[in-house]
Amino acid sequence: MASADVDALLVTRMPNIFYLSGFTGSTAGIIVTSNDCYILVDPRYSIQARTECTHAHVIDYAGVSLMKAAADLINDLRPKHLGFESEHLTVSNLRELRRCVNRETRLRSTHRLIEKLRQVKDAHEIGLIRRACEIADHAFESVLSEIKPGMTEKDVATLVDFTLRRLGADKEAFETIVACGPNSACPHATPSNTVLEPGQLVKLDFGARYLGYNSDLTRTICLGEPDEMEIEIHRVVLEAQQAAIEAIKPGKSGQVIDRIAREHIASQGYGDNFSHGLGHQLGIETHDGPGLSQKSDLVLQPGNVLTVEPGIYIEGWGGLRIEDDVLVTDTGAEILTSSPRNL
Ligand code: GLY
Ligand code: MN
Ligand code: MN
Repeated sequence: MASADVDALLVTRMPNIFYLSGFTGSTAGIIVTSNDCYILVDPRYSIQARTECTHAHVIDYAGVSLMKAAADLINDLRPKHLGFESEHLTVSNLRELRRCVNRETRLRSTHRLIEKLRQVKDAHEIGLIRRACEIADHAFESVLSEIKPGMTEKDVATLVDFTLRRLGADKEAFETIVACGPNSACPHATPSNTVLEPGQLVKLDFGARYLGYNSDLTRTICLGEPDEMEIEIHRVVLEAQQAAIEAIKPGKSGQVIDRIAREHIASQGYGDNFSHGLGHQLGIETHDGPGLSQKSDLVLQPGNVLTVEPGIYIEGWGGLRIEDDVLVTDTGAEILTSSPRNL
């Protein structure tokens, strides 16, 4: 806040509110000053906020908007400069705030202040991500013995989601992806009523959410014996992933790690078939911040948690991706997911 020259900060983005306070409801606002943290909640969340947010002053509001309630508190606290989250506060909320906040307080836009804090995970957060990864690994092992030709992609997705929760997930990290045969050429395919056939590739991309933190795992399996092309593409993707993971260490840039995987895939003739970034940060959100990509500005630090997920996608044929989650350590990378990577 000092670096942004604000003496109070209004936080409205829910993942940031959870990070600062532990609040898990769906609507709230937080005001942070140099000494205090206030969380504003409506009556649906009064009891919950008092239970979850033991380090914040809980302020109930009713009969007015969140912005009006925030402005009333700001007018009591009288900061000189109030920061707001420029990527999140809507134009209409900013207008309402301007209308209701006294003129002695100036409003200032801030840029990803809390998101930057979230990029380096502490031991507690890493423990929760480890557990989310374990649950995803166990779920993969469990569903592997149950997937068979004749099921639809939706059947498999339902099985994955049920298994994640049965094994301890609070919920899915994101909408589970199951895509078979040519459908797997879409990196983020939506599970459909397509029936799985013998010999097909099936791409499974799913994760567990555990106490607010996520895992993100992709495995591509073959319903029978893979053919030569499937074996070759699997080899190229796995080599790209291994080379990238081996190169991860503090001080390296996200762009450089992406390039290592991208150049390997290109050297094997599939340069036009790896269409997305190599990975993203992982934490309270599945996409938790800039990661490993051609446009990333990330310089790796110990405590970053990232996915490494190269893939090759060929329209009409299908797609194959391998995704694991890694922790950046003082000397390199620790892989947090452990499901077998063979085809
Ligand atoms: N399924 C989201 C991702 O892997 O990024
Ligand atoms: Mn994924
Ligand atoms: Mn991912």
